[in-house]
Amino acid sequence: MVYLTRRERFNSAHRLYNVNYSDEKNFEIYGKCANPNWHGHNYELFVTIKGNVDPETGVVINLKELSKIINTSIIDKLDHKNLNIEVDFLQNTIVSTENTIKAIWKVLEAELKDTKARLHKLKLVETENNFAEYYGE
Ligand code: NI
Repeated sequence: MVYLTRRERFNSAHRLYNVNYSDEKNFEIYGKCANPNWHGHNYELFVTIKGNVDPETGVVINLKELSKIINTSIIDKLDHKNLNIEVDFLQNTIVSTENTIKAIWKVLEAELKDTKARLHKLKLVETENNFAEYYGE
């Protein structure tokens, strides 16, 4: 079993807030991330897949194919978008790093079904100091 990681990047705007909370409570919980006028991040997404090396091709999955799947199903939908309002798979979600990485997992896992690769780990870097890792459970 070999583990392969592909990095992709996207830039997005968002705001952390819970619609059921008052503005005051949102600021209390999320601080400046609750700014109603949005703020942005340069995100990095590390997608780690696992699989057996095909003896004929020498690879688990063609990295170009993997990149295409990630770009079509995730990056194209997030890049230069507002995560709170423009992304189908993030509707009605508090777009924290945690919730975003879990939503990305769901989409990618389904997209990879027809390939020989299985999703092993996602790492979503929001800032130099803050990132999340997710293994699907
Ligand atoms: Ni933020």
